[in-house]
Amino acid sequence: MKKCIVSVLMLLMPLAVSASGGAGNLDKVYIDVSDQASLQRGARTFVNYCLSCHNASFMRYERMATDLGISEALLREEMMFASDKPGDLMVTAMPAAGAKTWFGVVPPDLSLTARSRGADWIYTYLRSFYADESTTTGWNNALFSNVAMPHVLYQWQGTRAATFEGGGVADVSSVRYQSVVPGTMTGREYDAAIRDLTNFMVYLAEPAKLVRYEIGFWVMLFMGVFIVLAYLLKKEYWRDVH
Ligand code: HEC
Repeated sequence: MKKCIVSVLMLLMPLAVSASGGAGNLDKVYIDVSDQASLQRGARTFVNYCLSCHNASFMRYERMATDLGISEALLREEMMFASDKPGDLMVTAMPAAGAKTWFGVVPPDLSLTARSRGADWIYTYLRSFYADESTTTGWNNALFSNVAMPHVLYQWQGTRAATFEGGGVADVSSVRYQSVVPGTMTGREYDAAIRDLTNFMVYLAEPAKLVRYEIGFWVMLFMGVFIVLAYLLKKEYWRDVH
């Protein structure tokens, strides 16, 4: 009986984990790590706007450039601000102690965030910032209440105020945004840019996915050819039986 209870509890465990992950009302994002152009655009945003605070310490610039088809010249000119060697890990120049004083928390390493939080979470999070006078940074987030991160892409999205339906708690399902200062991008363009960034973070969390895609293609091709051969052989063997 005890064993039975334990196994039921273990079965329910994933539910508990996903429940603690917070909001069930995440916006869905279409992820496609075989879309190299999207990954390149996401990488550009990532190195320009995120690496100044966050690390992606499992990734080297060189590996990223090779995987995403980025030339070394472009890599050096436009994507390497925190370092000067392509073989370096993608780590921020910001000292952790300083970050702790400035933000109250050290910005977490983003290498595996797409796995721990999920792509939909990241996509929703980066589109849920709003201006809030009551916080230290002047920004708040409907998905991550009182987040210590400022809205670093506010120039793209513009400044927005938020109200919550029924005066309820800050929550993505009841939020209504009002534009205060328009951004340089339209809503659609901003969503597309965040989709690319999220796509890149999914790649970052599992670079081997790209290799698997490639192997997958050859495996499928082999299977296709093999099926044809096997069929022809079967026909040959059974010809005299019928
Ligand atoms: C000015 C510094 C700064 C910049 C630039 C910055 N962040 Fe952050 N970020 C933070 C801090 C600080 C936190 C921790 C927030 C907290 O715990 O309240 C954070 C948290 C996050 C989280 C939540 C991680 C988790 O699992 O809790 C994600 C995702 C994230 N940042 C993504 C990004 C992306 C993508 C960019 C680039 C567009 C970016 N950040 C740029 C400071 C920054």
